[in-house]
Amino acid sequence: AEKQKIETIIKQMTLEEKVGQMTEVTLAVVAKGGGGNQDGSLDPAALKKAINDYKVGSILNTTAHALSVDTWRNMMTEIQDETKNTRLKIPVIYGLDAIHGQTYTLNSTLFPQNIAMAATRNTELVASAAKVTANELRASGVRWNFAPVLDCGRQPLWSRFPETYGEDVFIGTTMGAAGIKAYEEDGLKNITAVASCMKHYLGYSASRTGKDRTPIYMPEIEMREYYLPQFREAVKAGSSSIMINSSEINGEPVHASKYLLTDVLRTELGFKGLIVTDWEDIKRLNDRHNVAASPREAVAMAINAGIDMSMVPNDFSFYDLLLEAVKNKEVPMSRIDDAVRRILTLKMKVGLFDNPYPEDAAVANFGKPAYQALALDAAREAMTLLKNDNKVLPLSKNTKVLVAGPGAQSISAMNGCWSYTWQGNQEEWYPADSKTILQTITEKVGAANIVTTTGKGFDNVVNFDASQLKKAAANVDVIILCLGENAYAESPGNTTELALPEEQLQLAQAAALTGKPVILVLTEGRPRFITSIAPAMKGILMAYWSGKKTAEAIADVLFGDYNPNGILPFSYPRSMGEMVLYDRKPTEDVREVFNDNIKTGYMPLFPFGWGLSYTSFEYSDITLSNTILKGEENLTVSVTVKNTGAIDGKHTVELYSHDLFASITPNMQRLRAFKKITLKAGESQQVSFTINKNDLAFVNAQLKTVTEPGDFELMIGTKKARFTYAQ
Ligand code: IFM
Repeated sequence: AEKQKIETIIKQMTLEEKVGQMTEVTLAVVAKGGGGNQDGSLDPAALKKAINDYKVGSILNTTAHALSVDTWRNMMTEIQDETKNTRLKIPVIYGLDAIHGQTYTLNSTLFPQNIAMAATRNTELVASAAKVTANELRASGVRWNFAPVLDCGRQPLWSRFPETYGEDVFIGTTMGAAGIKAYEEDGLKNITAVASCMKHYLGYSASRTGKDRTPIYMPEIEMREYYLPQFREAVKAGSSSIMINSSEINGEPVHASKYLLTDVLRTELGFKGLIVTDWEDIKRLNDRHNVAASPREAVAMAINAGIDMSMVPNDFSFYDLLLEAVKNKEVPMSRIDDAVRRILTLKMKVGLFDNPYPEDAAVANFGKPAYQALALDAAREAMTLLKNDNKVLPLSKNTKVLVAGPGAQSISAMNGCWSYTWQGNQEEWYPADSKTILQTITEKVGAANIVTTTGKGFDNVVNFDASQLKKAAANVDVIILCLGENAYAESPGNTTELALPEEQLQLAQAAALTGKPVILVLTEGRPRFITSIAPAMKGILMAYWSGKKTAEAIADVLFGDYNPNGILPFSYPRSMGEMVLYDRKPTEDVREVFNDNIKTGYMPLFPFGWGLSYTSFEYSDITLSNTILKGEENLTVSVTVKNTGAIDGKHTVELYSHDLFASITPNMQRLRAFKKITLKAGESQQVSFTINKNDLAFVNAQLKTVTEPGDFELMIGTKKARFTYAQ
């Protein structure tokens, strides 16, 4: 019946109405005061022009900063009211980048960025966070989320690395799919679900220089091994839409790639949902990529390649150009109908045809304490303890502490990109109850035990005074040094250097020279090199950008109110010349190529999967259900894990496989499964993983995903077991 209804609407639509549906503009186009709009009020004339004259089907984005939930609801109501004045009364679908919570509404719940969620290795947590985000979006009247980011974080220089689930394909695939299922639960029928938008298809994170939206050169074998599986699984998980990589692969902008958009995505992956461009990317085919000689050619090129909706976003040029292109037979009508069919299907799926207005029932839960508690759980589980010399941590609450460093009083460095504002770096727009590390540590030890030296934020670290630091440290027991990066998003976050800025490194050296133990707390979205200072630090806590509750989680870990259990979702590199990934090939692991006897190996500073606890876990008794895996059969591998320490703790058990010999060089290891368990002090548990041949597969030289017969090794913790796969 829904299909029928859509066909009936399409039959009634004029070409102008169809092209309008394919147009998405930014809120600034209809807001009073345009891009500078501060209060969320709309301009009735501009709204009428967009919706009535240009018949736009979609609007996205926020004003310059976060708005109250009531303002959002009013805006959404005004927009849908305007659609009632159109001939066919087709509702507008509104899209937002709620990548780690409903980031644009005041007092919403902000979760850790994906990179930190990956450190939790807790897929259920990813799903629960997605449900909260969906509910809070829906409360704001928004039913389309430009999330999750499925780009694989194999290039830490990339400014959007924090938005990724890290360097491993399996984590990105499982966590991405879990988020999508949660967003789209029950076919989007209820008020805690929104349409997801997997992004950015394909290979966006693999730019050569790490600079956002710069060229990617990638052999197809690499694309299929490391970048496509996340999208394949996301399609199966039911994602309703997809956003395209703004960049180019092997000289072809992805927005113009019929091969990637239609042959691979539609035909091979079977994706039936909506394809939307990224910001202004059709125009860029002409004026940036230079593959289309005119703006109209760019439009025809993208739509013919498979684009359904254009995020224009600032004007109506796309509408005019597509009309001309269709009239000139440069784009077939069938392609337009196809796109409009998908847009209307999405609108119907999210219930906009039944009720386009913000639902009252969705508001009741907005920002509720249980949601905030979940954000705290997530931030705590993300905390990754990298170093703890002589068990310097946890600290007692009687400790006299010097809290120093630019991160100590920064709120934006807790949250990172897409937090209340696009860049996430405007402290004035964070809710009043957001806490700094200085505040949460003060809550633990009392104001009398706190000394602080540095002012607010990352700009004040320049010209710090080492003698002042020494003086301040004179009467304390320990220095908690908060370093890292301020929030950034997209190209403003480009960097040429991954080492922490020189001033921060000097500050760390000066802190170490005081002779007091220094605990380094890192709030950063990507691994910034700390190789020169790490040996002098007694403890190192990687806190990532873990959302609104980051500072609470940090203090809980430092003072023993929470036993850390996060583990790295990336290999923490030593230096630019030693950026090796955990699944590297054998030849990448040997530093001395002329003398195979000296296998010092390229080593990260901290390996993928590294993370300490205040208790200890021991592995024993690895067993296999069989030493031969035949054809389609299953194989179960089990291990016993014991908490051998004195306190309870959570722990992630990871299963890696190694194909000993293969037709192309095998990875040294691949993560194939993980389970998070909780063990009381002294408690043991048997943990089992059941795998089949698909869990051992790789992409071969013919670009086929295969599992070749032969010997494999499985690794869990310190234990290893071998078996043979026979077809
Ligand atoms: O969804 C985003 C995308 O990730 C980057 N460019 C802008 C889009 C809409 O805000």
